Amino acid sequence: MDVLIVGASGGIGQAMAENFTVNGHHVIGTYCKTVPPKLSESIDLVPMDPSQDADVQNSLSKISSLDLVINCVGFLSSEDGLPEKTIRKFEARGLEESIRINALPTLLIAKHTQKLLRKSSQSVFATISAKVGSIEDNQLGGWYSYRISKAALNMALKTLSIEWSKSVPNCCVAALHPGTVTTKLSAPFVGEGKKHTLLSASQCAGHLSQIVNNLKPQDTGRFWSWNGDEICW
Ligand SMILES: NC(=O)c1ccc[n+]([C@@H]2O[C@H](COP(=O)([O-])OP(=O)(O)OC[C@H]3O[C@@H](n4cnc5c(N)ncnc54)[C@H](OP(=O)(O)O)[C@@H]3O)[C@@H](O)[C@H]2O)c1
Repeated sequence: MDVLIVGASGGIGQAMAENFTVNGHHVIGTYCKTVPPKLSESIDLVPMDPSQDADVQNSLSKISSLDLVINCVGFLSSEDGLPEKTIRKFEARGLEESIRINALPTLLIAKHTQKLLRKSSQSVFATISAKVGSIEDNQLGGWYSYRISKAALNMALKTLSIEWSKSVPNCCVAALHPGTVTTKLSAPFVGEGKKHTLLSASQCAGHLSQIVNNLKPQDTGRFWSWNGDEICW
């Protein structure tokens, strides 16, 4: 398979890239600020800002076809701010940045990979979302910007699945929840007591690759948890 991992510089993205190369696939891995190590001869690393339309187009212009795309880019907090526990802490800038990193890239990547995925007899287009982006599953509240941006991402994927069921019928579009995984993103929020419940990035990549390997075009437009359960939108 020809596999595109967007955000192969992150904890989960790097582990996904490694998983697919170890299993004999050719991987194109993109990065933005962090240059990842070249883990194998069968991975090509490409710089790309996933929130810039022209940059996504240019970075993907040399690829001739794709069987699998997984967008692993995401943002939860920065040095400026933590996720908002209350509306009193909400700031427009945090929401704008969350939408720019968590929702926008999937739309740009879809725009510029559609013709590449059409060439595959059976393909998957997936993005790592988060269970907290499920509106129906929201029991706890809080984390406004992250939840809203992942809910927007989920709507983008569902809408894309409807369009592509006609125009790219060989492709399955999916949202994936990775579980709670030991990465830079989750580190500030995981207390000592919870560490034993975490997945390592490579365990997560093993679970998620099994899910995408089993997806068929008729499964399009659904939201999957790392353990194979389906999550309500
Ligand atoms: N870890 C968890 O427990 C967990 C739980 C639920 C959902 N998720 C989701 O899983 C995905 C992967 O997260 P992770 O845990 O692997 O996080 P991570 O290790 O922090 O990786 C984040 C990735 O996003 C990219 N990124 C971040 N900010 C960016 C920006 N401003 N512009 C461009 N790229 C940017 C990074 O690229 P560069 O470093 O190259 O800029 C990196 O590839 C995210 O969508 C996250 O929301 C994670």
